[in-house]
Amino acid sequence: MKIAILGGTGEQGPGLALRLALAGEDVIIGSRAKEKADKVADELNAELGGKRIQGADNVQAAASAEIVMMTVPYSAHISTLEAVKTQLQGKIFIDVSVPLDPENPRRMKMPAAGSATEEAQQFLGADTKVVAAFQNVAAHILRDPKHHIDCDILVCGNDVEAKKVVIGLISKMGMKGYNVGTADSARVVEGLTSILIRLNIQNKVKGAGIRLTGLPE
Ligand SMILES: NC(=O)c1ccc[n+]([C@@H]2O[C@H](COP(=O)([O-])OP(=O)(O)OC[C@H]3O[C@@H](n4cnc5c(N)ncnc54)[C@H](OP(=O)(O)O)[C@@H]3O)[C@@H](O)[C@H]2O)c1
Repeated sequence: MKIAILGGTGEQGPGLALRLALAGEDVIIGSRAKEKADKVADELNAELGGKRIQGADNVQAAASAEIVMMTVPYSAHISTLEAVKTQLQGKIFIDVSVPLDPENPRRMKMPAAGSATEEAQQFLGADTKVVAAFQNVAAHILRDPKHHIDCDILVCGNDVEAKKVVIGLISKMGMKGYNVGTADSARVVEGLTSILIRLNIQNKVKGAGIRLTGLPE
């Protein structure tokens, strides 16, 4: 499967790309500037010892992939979606965005739609299946392939089949994904990130995460 990561050149994107490539997927790193995407793809390929990851500009990345993820700061959420709206039609779109309050990342500043996920679904329309995932896992943990990830991934969105595909990918990436409901659940899932940031600051750590208990294996 070809999976694009728009804005995949920053903190969160490369770790997701690495884990997806190690799971056997073809990955396209997207960027506003193709050269920047190529550079990150080259670095990751050197680490992987293969050529599983390509670089492209965001529009080309979205056009070429079957599944598209986005890891841009929330301030660039709608502007980036605007650029790729056409290319996302009929596809699964995995939104990783967290609308933190820019003045205090221990708090949320949710958009009028309720969450970034609901905003993306409203903006892209029903033909794009928006799924929220990976908001509660820290970038440096994803980025180190030797680091066993012991937190769970909460997955929500309105399309049941799309969520199954994403949970399957999460499993291939060595994590456990749980379907936690429709797109409105993203208000809670995205909101948990501000609590994790608060816990990181309080405990002087970087990788607080969420783990569910009491559920069947
Ligand atoms: N970092 C984490 O640990 C973490 C954990 C969970 C969730 N998240 C969420 O994941 C998303 C990405 O986080 P991040 O830490 O990876 O962000 P980041 O490193 O600050 O930015 C990621 C990429 O977004 C692109 N970008 C930056 N400003 C932009 C703009 N104004 N317009 C369009 N593209 C822009 C840049 O790519 P180009 O310059 O190549 O276009 C940049 O490399 C955020 O919504 C964040 O809340 C992050």
